[in-house]
Amino acid sequence: MKILSTHMKLLFITSILIPITPTHAKSILPTANGIQYPAALKNWRVIASSYRTDNNTQRVILGNSIAIKAARSGNTNPWPKGSTLAKLVWKNTEHPDWKSAIIPGKFIHSEIMIKNAEKYKSTGGWGYARWKGEAQQPYGKDKSFTQECLTCHSQVKKSDYVFTIPAKIP
Ligand code: HEC
Repeated sequence: MKILSTHMKLLFITSILIPITPTHAKSILPTANGIQYPAALKNWRVIASSYRTDNNTQRVILGNSIAIKAARSGNTNPWPKGSTLAKLVWKNTEHPDWKSAIIPGKFIHSEIMIKNAEKYKSTGGWGYARWKGEAQQPYGKDKSFTQECLTCHSQVKKSDYVFTIPAKIP
């Protein structure tokens, strides 16, 4: 009887857990510097969007709850510890029913920056990671790929290595 009730409890717990487990995020491999794809990323909120005229792509910049709180209150220089910024990039395409509306087409990559001044001291206090294409393949053969990220992001050292200016939401 006791065994059965434990079994039932387990069954109950797994039946609750299974539907909310983000299976896709689980199958995405970590990057060479050991950063995991954030399982909750799809539920993060918007900080800004951007549009690149040179390569015909559009992006949304999302934040985890720490980053959103910082962005909404203007507390972003420095960004608080634990802030994670994500950028999702798509090729531009036309809306099939409204040609002048440019919408996200082919998915290009996702990338994140995690703020932790001690842990990521060698890369300006941010941990960098990128996953390519719809298959979300980790970018970078070894962890030296972060130097590439840092080279560009150092250009905005004055704004804590972050390019994004949080969009004004009245
Ligand atoms: C050639 C320059 C360049 C390189 C290399 C680069 N970035 Fe960026 N990154 C940018 C620019 C410019 C923006 C802001 C414009 C935009 O939204 O695309 C940006 C924005 C971001 C953002 C949104 C937060 C912010 O700073 O605005 C993240 C996250 C990000 N990059 C991650 C990475 C990662 C991870 C790498 C390395 C794998 C990387 N970047 C490499 C230029 C670069």
